[in-house]
Amino acid sequence: MSTPTIAVTGATGQLGRIVVRLLRERHPDQPVIALVRDPAKAQDLAALGAQVRLFDYDQPETLAPALAGVDKLLLISGNAVGERARQHGAVIAAAKAAGVGLIAYTSVLRAAETPLAIAAEHKATEAILSEAGVPYVLLRHGWYCENYVFRIVAAVESGTLVTCAGDGRISAATRQDYAEAAVAILTAPEPQAGKVYELAGSTSFTFADLAADAARLSGKPVAFVNLPKAEFEEALVKIGTPPFVAGLIAKSDHGAAEGGLLEEGGTLERLIGHPTTPMRSVIAAALA
Ligand SMILES: NC(=O)c1ccc[n+]([C@@H]2O[C@H](COP(=O)([O-])OP(=O)(O)OC[C@H]3O[C@@H](n4cnc5c(N)ncnc54)[C@H](OP(=O)(O)O)[C@@H]3O)[C@@H](O)[C@H]2O)c1
Repeated sequence: MSTPTIAVTGATGQLGRIVVRLLRERHPDQPVIALVRDPAKAQDLAALGAQVRLFDYDQPETLAPALAGVDKLLLISGNAVGERARQHGAVIAAAKAAGVGLIAYTSVLRAAETPLAIAAEHKATEAILSEAGVPYVLLRHGWYCENYVFRIVAAVESGTLVTCAGDGRISAATRQDYAEAAVAILTAPEPQAGKVYELAGSTSFTFADLAADAARLSGKPVAFVNLPKAEFEEALVKIGTPPFVAGLIAKSDHGAAEGGLLEEGGTLERLIGHPTTPMRSVIAAALA
C-alpha cells in the first residue's frame, strides 16, 4: 500500500507550523502538503520538504484543486470568529469533491455539551461533518497554555491577576502537545474514522495557582482577584482591551468556572506517549 498523503490547513499558523514540522521530522517518507492562504509566508515549510499549495477558505476556487491527491486532511479550525462554520463547510465540501479519505478536525473539548460560548462554530462544523458523508475524526482541544501567557506577564507588571473563573480548574496543554497528538492520529496505522478524542492537559490549575506561580517565578507579588463576569468584562475594557476580545476572555473564564475546561481522561498524554507540558513550565519560560 502506498504512503498516504497528508495535507494540513492553516499551515502557516502557530499550530499548523508545528504539525508540519513534526510530520517532516518524525515521518520523513510521508508526503506532506502545507495548505496556506499566503505561500510567501511558507518558505520555511517548503524548506522542510512540504509541498506548499494556495488554500484560502474565502476563495472557493482555491480549495478543491489544492486537495487533489490528498488522502488525509487536517482541518485546523480558522481564526475568523463568526465566519468559521461557513469557511469550514466550504473546506469539507471541497474535500468531499476531491475524494479525501479522512478529515481530522480540531474541535473544542466536549463540543456536544460544553458551556463554552466559543463552541458554537465547532458544534456547527461537527454537524456539517456528520452530514457530509466523508470519513472524519474529531480532535477536540482543551485550552492552549499559551492563551494565558500575556495575562500572566501583565499580572506580574500590575501585581494583580483578575478573572471571573473562580476556582474553576483548567486542563490546558501546549500547542506542541496538541500538534504531537495530531501527528499521532494522522499517521496511526489503525483506522481513525468515527473516533472522537477529548484532548487536554495531564494536570489542571486554577487562576489562584497561576497567580501563585507567577509570583513565585517572578519574585514579585501577584494578587488573585475574582470578579463577577460582567464586572470582569468591564474591567478589561477599562484597561483598553477591545470590547470583542474582552467578551471572549470573560466568556472563556466563565466557561472555566462552569467546569468547561477541565478534562481528566488522560487521552492526550496516552496519544503522545508522555505527560503534557505543565503550565508552570510555560510561565517560567514566559517570565525568563
Ligand atoms: N483551544 C484553544 O485554546 C485555542 C486557542 C487559540 C486558537 N484556537 C483555535 O485553533 C486554531 C489554531 O490555533 P493557532 O494558534 O494555530 O491559530 P493561528 O496561529 O491564528 O492560525 C490560524 C490559521 O488559520 C489560517 N487562516 C485564517 N483564515 C484563513 C482563510 N481564510 N483561509 C485559509 N487559512 C486561513 C491562518 O492563516 P495565516 O497564517 O495566513 O494567518 C493561520 O494559518 C485557531 O485558528 C483557533 O480556531 C484554539
